[in-house]
Amino acid sequence: MLALGCDHGGFELMQEVKAHLEKRGFEFKDFGCYSTDSVDYPEYAKKVAHAVADGECELGILICGTGIGISIAANKVKGIRAALCADCFSAQATKEHNNANILAMGARTTGPGLALKIVDTFLDTPFSNDERHIRRINMIED
Ligand code: RB5
Repeated sequence: MLALGCDHGGFELMQEVKAHLEKRGFEFKDFGCYSTDSVDYPEYAKKVAHAVADGECELGILICGTGIGISIAANKVKGIRAALCADCFSAQATKEHNNANILAMGARTTGPGLALKIVDTFLDTPFSNDERHIRRINMIED
C-alpha cells in the first residue's frame, strides 16, 4: 500500500500520478489534499509520514510546488527518509543507498512525463541491502 499526499501546488500532478499507479496496479491511500484550494503542506506531509512510519503503508509519495517544504516536513517524523527527486538517477540511488521510504517531487519544477518515470524508478528499484548502506542509515537514526 502506498501513501499519497500533496498540497494545492502538487494536486494536479498527483492526479496524474494516481492514474498512473492505477494503470500499474498499485494500491494507494490518498491522504489529500483534494483540490487546488490553498492548504498547508506540513499537514499532508505528516499524515503520509506517519502512515509510513507506523507501517500502515510501505512507501509514500509527496508532491508540493517544489517538493522542498513537503520533504522537510516529512523528514521530521522518526523513521522517515524522504528524498526529493527531480531525476531518475537520484530516484534509483536513493532507494539503493538510502532505502528512502518517501519520494517527494515538485510539480512546479518537474514535468508530468519525467515525474511518472521518477515514480516508476523509485517503486521498481529495491534497496541494495549492502552492509555499508545499512550502517549509514542506522547512523541517521542514532
Ligand atoms: C505553496 O505555494 C508552496 O509554497 C508549496 O507548494 C511548496 O513549494 C513549499 O515548499
